[in-house]
Amino acid sequence: MTANADIKIEKTTQSRVTEYDVNNVPFGKCFSDHMFIAEYADGKWEKSIIMPYKDVPMSFAMSALHYGQAIFEGMKAYKSDTGEVSVFRPLENFKRMNKSAIRMAMPEVPEEIFMGGLLALLKLDAAWVPTSETGSLYIRPFLIATDEAIGVKASETYKFVIITCPAGKYYSEPIKVLIETNYIRAVEGGVGYVKAAGNYGRSLYPTKLAQEKGYQQVIWTDGKTHSYIEESGTMNLMLVIGDTLVTPALCDTILAGITRDSVLALAKEWGMKVEERKVSIAEVIAAHTAGTLKEVFGVGTAATIAQIIGIGHVDNYYPLPPVEGRQFSNKVDEVLRGIRKGKVADTFNWMFKVK
Ligand SMILES: Cc1ncc(COP(=O)(O)O)c(C=O)c1O
Repeated sequence: MTANADIKIEKTTQSRVTEYDVNNVPFGKCFSDHMFIAEYADGKWEKSIIMPYKDVPMSFAMSALHYGQAIFEGMKAYKSDTGEVSVFRPLENFKRMNKSAIRMAMPEVPEEIFMGGLLALLKLDAAWVPTSETGSLYIRPFLIATDEAIGVKASETYKFVIITCPAGKYYSEPIKVLIETNYIRAVEGGVGYVKAAGNYGRSLYPTKLAQEKGYQQVIWTDGKTHSYIEESGTMNLMLVIGDTLVTPALCDTILAGITRDSVLALAKEWGMKVEERKVSIAEVIAAHTAGTLKEVFGVGTAATIAQIIGIGHVDNYYPLPPVEGRQFSNKVDEVLRGIRKGKVADTFNWMFKVK
C-alpha cells in the first residue's frame, strides 16, 4: 500500500530532529516533527491532514474527556543498517483498533486512513527512527470523541490521530511484580480485551501501591476469584514451566497482544511445547517450590521482552532464576530484534516496509 493521495500535507519549515539524539531520549517525551489527523463527522470520514506536531485547541466539554470514548494503539517502526524503515505488524494494530472502536461505540477507522496516514507520516519523519540496536520509533495512533457536549451518549464527531516518538528501552532493568489480589483490571463482559484509555487510568492506583512496596508492576488476576493470573501492566505474561511455554489463554479480560502472538508463533516454529490456558497462582507457586519455574517474562510492544526476576504474592516473595540462564526468552528477544532490524529472515512477513 502507498500513502493516501487525499492527505493534505503541511510540512514543517524547521525540523527539530537535530535538537535530539534520537538514540538516547526518554520514552514518550519527545515527539517527532509531524502528526496525522483525520476527522469524522456527519457519519463519514472527512479531512485528513499531516501537519507539524503542535498543540491543537479543543473544548473542555469534549466528550472523550468526560465519558471516556478514547482508544489507542501502540506499535513500533525500526531502521535497518541500510536505512530502510519498517513497521512491525501494523495491520494487526489496525484490526485491534477497530475492535476497540466497535466495543466503545466509535466509528471504525478505514484501512486506507490508518495505513495511508501511517506510511505518509513515517516517510516524512524517517529521520526520527533510531538506528541503535534497541531503539525504535514508537507510534501512537488514537481515536477520540470530540463532540462539544455534556451528556452521556456516543459522540457524533471524532478525531483519529497518529503521533510518534523515538524510544529506547522501556525497562532498563529486569522487574519485580506483585500479584494483585484486591483490585481488578478487567471483568468478564467489560472492556479488558480492547485498548480503551480508561483501562490504564484505573490501573494506576494499584500500581502505585505496588511500587510503594518495591515492585515495578502488578500481575492482574481474574476479577471473580483472584486465583488466576492474567497480564501485567501493558504486557501479556509468559512462563516457562519445565520445558513448556505457558501463557494465560485469551478471553475478554485479556488484551490480545501482538507481541504475545509473535512469541507463540516463534516458539511453535522452534518445536517448543506451548500451552495457552488458565494459569492459577497456586500452580505458579507450586512450580516455584518444585524448581520447575524456569522463566517468567512480560511481552508487549513497549517493553518487547521484560524479564521478571521476582514475584510477590500476599506476604511472600518468590525470587526467580537469573536472567542470563533463561534460554527461551533471551533467544526470542534476540530473534525478534533481529527480524525487526532486518538481520534475521522475516519468514512470517511481519515487517511492513515504508517505501
Ligand atoms: C493491557 C495490555 N496487555 C498487553 C499488551 C501487549 O500488546 P502488544 O504486544 O500488542 O503491544 C498491551 C500493550 O499494547 C497492553 O496495553
